[in-house]
Amino acid sequence: MAAMARSPLLLVAALVSVFFSHAAGILTLDPVQADVTAGDDGTKVYIVFTERQPTTVEMPELEASAAVSSFHHDMLSDLLNDSSSVANRIVYHYSRSLHGFAARLTEDERNRLAGNEDVISIHEKKVYWPHTTRSWNFLDLPQHNDPARLKFEKDVVIGMVDSGIFPESASFSDAGLPPPPSKWKGVCTSNFTCTNKIIGARAYKDGNRTVSPVDTEGHGTHTSSTAAGRAVAGASMGGVAGGTARGAVPGARLAVYKVCWDDGCGSEDIVAAFDDAVADGVDVISASLGSGRAWDYSEDPIAVGAVSNVAPWAVSVAATTTDRKIVSEMVLGNGKRVVGLAVTAFRHLEGDKPALLVNPGSCAEETLMGRRYRGAVLMCDDPIDPAGFKDTGAVAAIRPHPSSDVRGDTARAYPIPAVIVTEEQYKEIQDFYNTTRLPMVTVKNSATVKDESAPTVASFSSRGPNMVTHGIIKPDISAPGVDILAAWTGLTTATGSKVDNRRVAYNIVSGTSMACPHVTGAAAYVKSVHPDWSPAAVLSAIVTTATPVVNHAPEAELAFGAGLVNPMGVRYPGIVYDAGEADYLAFLCAQGYNATQLATMTGTKKTTTATCKDRTATSVGDLNYPSIAVPVINYGVPFAAEFPRRVTNVGPAASVYRAKVVGTPAGVKITVAPEELAFSEKKQTLGFKVSVSGTLTVNGTIGASAALVWSDGKHLVRSPIYVFPHKLYYDF
Ligand SMILES: *[C@@H]1O[C@H](CO)[C@@H](O)[C@H](O)[C@H]1NC(C)=O
Ligand SMILES: *[C@@H]1O[C@H](CO)[C@@H](O)[C@H](O)[C@H]1NC(C)=O
Ligand SMILES: *[C@@H]1O[C@H](CO)[C@@H](O)[C@H](O)[C@H]1NC(C)=O
Ligand SMILES: *[C@@H]1O[C@H](CO)[C@@H](O)[C@H](O)[C@H]1NC(C)=O
Ligand SMILES: *[C@@H]1O[C@H](CO)[C@@H](O)[C@H](O)[C@H]1NC(C)=O
Ligand SMILES: *[C@@H]1O[C@H](CO)[C@@H](O)[C@H](O)[C@H]1NC(C)=O
Repeated sequence: MAAMARSPLLLVAALVSVFFSHAAGILTLDPVQADVTAGDDGTKVYIVFTERQPTTVEMPELEASAAVSSFHHDMLSDLLNDSSSVANRIVYHYSRSLHGFAARLTEDERNRLAGNEDVISIHEKKVYWPHTTRSWNFLDLPQHNDPARLKFEKDVVIGMVDSGIFPESASFSDAGLPPPPSKWKGVCTSNFTCTNKIIGARAYKDGNRTVSPVDTEGHGTHTSSTAAGRAVAGASMGGVAGGTARGAVPGARLAVYKVCWDDGCGSEDIVAAFDDAVADGVDVISASLGSGRAWDYSEDPIAVGAVSNVAPWAVSVAATTTDRKIVSEMVLGNGKRVVGLAVTAFRHLEGDKPALLVNPGSCAEETLMGRRYRGAVLMCDDPIDPAGFKDTGAVAAIRPHPSSDVRGDTARAYPIPAVIVTEEQYKEIQDFYNTTRLPMVTVKNSATVKDESAPTVASFSSRGPNMVTHGIIKPDISAPGVDILAAWTGLTTATGSKVDNRRVAYNIVSGTSMACPHVTGAAAYVKSVHPDWSPAAVLSAIVTTATPVVNHAPEAELAFGAGLVNPMGVRYPGIVYDAGEADYLAFLCAQGYNATQLATMTGTKKTTTATCKDRTATSVGDLNYPSIAVPVINYGVPFAAEFPRRVTNVGPAASVYRAKVVGTPAGVKITVAPEELAFSEKKQTLGFKVSVSGTLTVNGTIGASAALVWSDGKHLVRSPIYVFPHKLYYDF
């Protein structure tokens, strides 16, 4: 298990983000920038991965960096006619844990550079976006500022690759924390002052490293405090969802890598952050970023950064609801209550005063301009222009949910008081308006209600299968991501909108981004108890201890992965499915990557060509992964597949585990051989084989769910098995 123990585990938000597309259209939001276009000089930013430079291995870090930089300069001088401009073209040197650079190149230069024998791969810049107190209680993680636990957690460093941090927040107090662990090599740049809580802070913007890591967006502050915020009593967003706000591992240290700005998160900045984070010595990297689509691993700079040198695999996280649902309430003059969805917390609504309901015909900018509706509540059946709304002097707006196909499971905060209702509720309000001479309504601030149906996977959370490899269940795991209260930056408003004038210390936000740091926290928790575990072992502990989510038709595991993360269970999984670099290489060979693509991910052309030749017989399902995906040809087509696995004993030395297959679906046969594993020592590894065969039948769900559970009487080590027609995803 030692092989990759020093690599951090990378956590990413689930698959692709559809959060932004769902959010659009309700109110006029800032436009989402599309593709990256060439600059005035016809150049674009490219990330270039190069051969490892062996000469630098023995040198002190500064000297090695200088040597690598001059290697990059030489490469570019050969390429450009005017070598004096080389320095202006380089955006980043990646030299600490990765091998390569980012530079501005014309298409012609890019093509010529690709022919250089030291170049492994070249990737055009891509833009990612952030996937945008109660949740930990919902996961049964006891609250603590327990000095005994701080003692373990203090040596764990979480790297947040996000929009920075707001250090003044009470959630990041360093009270009672000792100086950083001796392994730590990070720094705080710009005029950011490190504390014993935030022990590293760097920022990257288009090659500029002297920008401030302070969070001006809020997203990074929110995710950082969810993962590792101190317990802060009496936190709420303007009185809504009050309680104690806290992270999973309040004693863990934070290292902040700011890569997200108001125009997104550039891949060349993200790769620079990875390069530093690994060399600085973080244990877990949390990057709640998405791109709107899944890229092939060898094209996706996040996967390349992850596979080649950062972590062998990325954990993807789905977002679920919690049992605390936030609703926005309104009472019509006839006494009828209308319960809508929105996070409403405005001082002027306190006191629950009735207001006149008015239909302006439209809430577009042209219509509202110059009109006065002082103190009124507006009915808006088209998108609302928030600035126009404010100028009218109205107190609130009612808006039907724009698309009926989206399950209304997520309350969002708006820059103005907006009650989001269903089409039926809206008709009811229209009817009341049409038939009442003086239609009065009372719009209230949000309240919380108990949601008995929780956890369910949020409608905005992406569903599997893994678009690149069908043979892996993605997402891996679920965690709360709906209506999450956590710290916010003081440098923007509650919604980030200029129209909003509310500054909040805590904010309620939903997204796979909010789910991701819950699992980051759980991973850090594992690391605090087992600092020597590999990323694969940590992932295994997270997956095999998850609480299964029941009745989630039709996507089942493709929506929630192994189930809801169990932060208390993760520490003592009993046995783990471990894997190292060789396992991931074999997996990538089985996936059909050619030598060039493999070299991209491993950082060198030399070893991989040979490695893959030996491994042509392996299949994707052979990867020692803690879950088993069985993609079959189609319903009604007989199949048979075998999955070799091996488990390592991390519990008591003498432990005997017995296998049990639970929930075998009709028409499917699952066997395990051997059915008993008798360990005699710690860290001992034993192998077994799972055979799955039969015929998948159509019955209203996409696939068939089962699970393999190993138990020694104390531990339950559960691996989901999911059989599904891989053809189907093309038709989604
Ligand atoms: C650089 O040199 C190449 C080959 O000599 C030539 O085709 C190209 O036009 C030159 N580019 C510039 C910007 O001078
Ligand atoms: C980097 O950003 C800082 C802060 O915005 C600015 O002062 C500095 O001039 C920038 N440096 C470069 C090289 O653009
Ligand atoms: C440095 O800190 C000061 C005071 O907090 C702030 O006003 C200034 O903008 C900061 N400079 C940078 C480059 O962030
Ligand atoms: C209310 O009146 C509006 C316009 O007068 C009309 O479009 C709408 O259908 C009516 N709604 C109901 C529910 O009666
Ligand atoms: C490897 O695969 C990529 C993507 O399919 C392709 O562009 C490249 O030409 C291939 N390289 C070799 C050496 O076959
Ligand atoms: C369909 O099959 C799946 C897997 O066997 C099972 O979990 C589910 O209950 C079945 N659904 C119906 C409606 O029979």
